[in-house]
Amino acid sequence: MNNAGIIGMGHSYPEGILTNADLEKMVDTNDEWITTRTGIKQRHKAAENEYTSQFGSKAALQALERANLKPEDIDIIICATTTPDQIMPSTGALIQAQIGAVNAAGMDVFAACSGFLYGLTMVESMIKTGQIRYALVIGAEVLTKYVDYTDRGTCVIFGDGAGAAVLGPVPEGKGILATKIKSDGRYEEQLALPRRRHEIGNDAHKHRRPRTFFQNEGQRAFQSCGAFDGRYLG
Ligand SMILES: CC(C)(COP(=O)(O)OP(=O)(O)OC[C@H]1O[C@@H](n2cnc3c(N)ncnc32)[C@H](O)[C@@H]1OP(=O)(O)O)[C@@H](O)C(=O)NCCC(=O)NCCS
Repeated sequence: MNNAGIIGMGHSYPEGILTNADLEKMVDTNDEWITTRTGIKQRHKAAENEYTSQFGSKAALQALERANLKPEDIDIIICATTTPDQIMPSTGALIQAQIGAVNAAGMDVFAACSGFLYGLTMVESMIKTGQIRYALVIGAEVLTKYVDYTDRGTCVIFGDGAGAAVLGPVPEGKGILATKIKSDGRYEEQLALPRRRHEIGNDAHKHRRPRTFFQNEGQRAFQSCGAFDGRYLG
């Protein structure tokens, strides 16, 4: 069995910046409140014509260069995102085309903040068993497109950008030691980007398409995470 590890990393983010001072003009908040609770001073914000796959591709190319690999060396691209360019083709497939990773499979993982770790876990197993040699795992979002800038509870938190990691076989004693993933869908209302169920499927055309925004019950989400079994943290 091979050991799997990260052999190159990259990142990319939009030029647009939203500072705490900018937010003070939009909602009843202040730099001191935001900094004390989140540590955030500014967040990057994509323009209307900037999408998740563009940031994902730039981050991926930087990670490949640092891993000393070419796009065609990659066997699978997993893009972890909650804000895909579209439902299909997947953002992973779009990134595959944009960077010219002609030998790779491309797909998305939909697991919100945890998505990158889900992707990492999946490719770790594939590299370990020898099913694949090299993988790209990318976490990429344009969350600000789904932020309600009248809601001070959420608009101070989210920003846009991408991080990418190339994974491959590494010598014994190096790389990922162990992974374990778990979710608890019972807390669905605590951090959500909902689309009402009756607006999906056969009756969808009867309803006006809503603008959907993040909903976050920060305190309760924090408590739920704290209550999670310690084996999954760290
Ligand atoms: C999000 C988070 C930083 C908010 O901090 P918090 O202390 O829990 O804030 P609360 O939502 O409980 O609000 C506390 C008070 O500050 C107010 N408040 C909320 N947002 C505010 C803002 N941007 N500026 C000023 N005051 C604000 C609330 O109205 C509330 O006032 P009240 O006590 O008079 O009702 C914190 O809950 C957290 O870390 N949550 C877990 C992580 C998380 O949710 N991540 C989401 C993305 S992964």
